[in-house]
Amino acid sequence: MTTVAIPFTRYKELICAWIVLAIIIFLVLLKITAPYGRHSSARWGPAISNKLGWAVMESAAVIMLFVFIIPNWGMLSSTDLVMIALFCLHYFNRTFVFPFRLHTKGKKMPMLVMCSGILFNIINGSSLGYYFVHYAHYGGGWLTSFRFIAGSLLFFVGLYINWKADNLLIHLRKPNETHYIIPRGWLFRYISCPNLFGELIEWFGFAVLCWNLPAWAFFLWTAANLIPRAIAHHKWYKARFNNYPSNRSAIIPFLI
Ligand SMILES: NC(=O)c1ccc[n+]([C@@H]2O[C@H](COP(=O)([O-])OP(=O)(O)OC[C@H]3O[C@@H](n4cnc5c(N)ncnc54)[C@H](OP(=O)(O)O)[C@@H]3O)[C@@H](O)[C@H]2O)c1
Repeated sequence: MTTVAIPFTRYKELICAWIVLAIIIFLVLLKITAPYGRHSSARWGPAISNKLGWAVMESAAVIMLFVFIIPNWGMLSSTDLVMIALFCLHYFNRTFVFPFRLHTKGKKMPMLVMCSGILFNIINGSSLGYYFVHYAHYGGGWLTSFRFIAGSLLFFVGLYINWKADNLLIHLRKPNETHYIIPRGWLFRYISCPNLFGELIEWFGFAVLCWNLPAWAFFLWTAANLIPRAIAHHKWYKARFNNYPSNRSAIIPFLI
């Protein structure tokens, strides 16, 4: 099955509308913190297992990407495939590894959060898949270009920071515990949320290495989600622990 391409100008309009929505959501999230993890609350309606919620909502990104690329596999260049592999590397961890390593015994995630996560991932996975199948024309030298190399470096540095920080945070607790501890050392000396900082760098690197509209839209959406979340985490730490280090920023060292 080969899907019919809509004109690129129409595709661009749709992605630009998606970017405008990211800006609106950013402003909303500065006022209302997404209710999962430490900000979870029973006020947000029916909830499901936290781990299941993560696995289901994150799987949507890769499923939708594959819905577009599998039937059109023959149309993809080796450059497209490298970019798709990097995207899948992140989502393989986020869907199949990260949720099952969490020490969040008995914790719940509101269905509303899971459903918004699914929608976000469906649109991001589809817009990227659609772009690779219909519009991507990377020349033969792309994989050795400055953009690709610099973007890949940023991507892997961000991935490393994100994975290492998530791992340190997860292991602040034993598997059957649910309390919170002040994280210390490494990048936690400068910021409250190195995991969110790493993810931001990672998707910035991805946008640089792909240099296409849906990848930039994805980066902007990531920033729209993660910057307000990090600010909320940071405020939460300061309210919860009166000995919380005062010299830390939320997500960008010395800045935010
Ligand atoms: N691309 C995007 O738009 C996007 C959006 C959101 C999140 N993410 C990614 O998803 C991952 C999780 O995000 P998150 O905001 O849920 O991260 P988080 O609040 O830092 O939590 C990560 C894990 O560590 C535990 N934890 C965190 N701080 C702790 C502390 N001080 N003491 C004990 N345990 C602690 C959390 O437990 P609790 O769950 O019990 O709090 C959770 O299991 C991150 O890697 C983030 O980058 C991506």
